[in-house]
Amino acid sequence: MFKVNPYRPGAGLMPTYLAGRDEDMQNVEQMFDALTVNVPTQSIIFSGLRGVGKTVLINKLQKIAEDKDIFCKHIEVEERNDFISQIAACSQAFLRKVSTKEKFKNLIQKPLDAIKALVVSFDPNDSTFSLSLQEKELYTATNLTQTLTEVFTTIGETAYKSETPICFFIDEIQYMKSKELGSLIAALHRTNQLGYPVMVIGAGLPKIYKMLSDEKSYSERLFLYKEIGSLTDEQSKKAIEIPASKFGITYSDEAIEKIISITKGYPFFIQQMCQIVYKNANDKKIEGYHVEESIHEFIETLDIGFFKVRYERCADSDKKFIFAMVKCGELPCTISNIAKNLQKNVNQISTTRAQLISKGIIFPIRYKELDFTVPEFSGYIQRLDEYKQWLEEHKS
Ligand SMILES: Nc1ncnc2c1ncn2[C@@H]1O[C@H](COP(=O)(O)OP(=O)(O)OP(=O)(O)O)[C@@H](O)[C@H]1O
Ligand SMILES: [Mg+2]
Repeated sequence: MFKVNPYRPGAGLMPTYLAGRDEDMQNVEQMFDALTVNVPTQSIIFSGLRGVGKTVLINKLQKIAEDKDIFCKHIEVEERNDFISQIAACSQAFLRKVSTKEKFKNLIQKPLDAIKALVVSFDPNDSTFSLSLQEKELYTATNLTQTLTEVFTTIGETAYKSETPICFFIDEIQYMKSKELGSLIAALHRTNQLGYPVMVIGAGLPKIYKMLSDEKSYSERLFLYKEIGSLTDEQSKKAIEIPASKFGITYSDEAIEKIISITKGYPFFIQQMCQIVYKNANDKKIEGYHVEESIHEFIETLDIGFFKVRYERCADSDKKFIFAMVKCGELPCTISNIAKNLQKNVNQISTTRAQLISKGIIFPIRYKELDFTVPEFSGYIQRLDEYKQWLEEHKS
């Protein structure tokens, strides 16, 4: 018989029960309340490893903001360069919304001109505005920061006057180009100084903290940083039990303990493990042995999906770098130990290091140390034949 499964492993899939994020949601809700009375608030950045629940959290926050009549738009930055066209489209959508009210129609022209300049100057493939040659000259700018700041401050002014606060949700911020990120920070900073109700809620891999402060030192005051991590035992228990309880299925304490110990409280792993256990168990109560019987399938599923897609994005030199990291044993590991395992010096491996950071596979921690952005990635590497063979060739 077809059995409805209440677990939802998958990128950005909202779980049937969002565990452990109540405090974050309450805090942000208060900031939304401030925004709705035209008080500008700090922007927020959530950072964390792959699969900890950044996307679902910001999606949930977007719903909360929309319920408070804040104008919201979601942007997912991709590795290819499309941030400018997305932010322009979102700003235009805001103007469309405001322009539906006759009394605010006069607030549109200034920001529309600013958006035009942004698109014409920095998104040459766009055909939103068909301009004459003369007009084109009029709108062409060379400085991205200035142009984006003009967009933010003018839509900010419109937001203020029409009492329609704005919140942009920007996911995968780490893929933003350095110049775009710097411009975004500067634009937001200026808008805040002027007291306009525009806010950004961003999410990305752990390296974004450093990216932002490298770009502009004042970004530390502009943003509130919140690291999102694995769930505590108590929160994990709820993430495991609550979805199934809706269908009258319960877990024994032993089953819960086992799931927590295997998944280490990582939200994606919990969803994946519980989906398999739930599918395989044909009883009203899930016991420890049900979990045991599903471990193999769980690991296999992660290996051919979650881990493999990341691994396959790596070039041969990246893979060797990863092998050398795993060989270090303990993570995070130092760059000099990685170099030693590759029988190279630190300079020789710096390009590969930068490449892996930009692909979002590894991230720098503390001083000269590196770790994987994917939880439990080293276990996956250790299971690979390719790694075993490499290890054999690099015995020392
Ligand atoms: N708080 C939570 N409680 C229960 N399940 C969760 C929670 N947060 C996330 N999940 C589940 O974890 C999985 C991953 O969530 P999500 O895609 O939001 O992670 P992410 O941090 O954005 O990952 P990535 O860095 O790969 O984009 C989804 O299947 C989601 O249902
Ligand atoms: Mg995500």
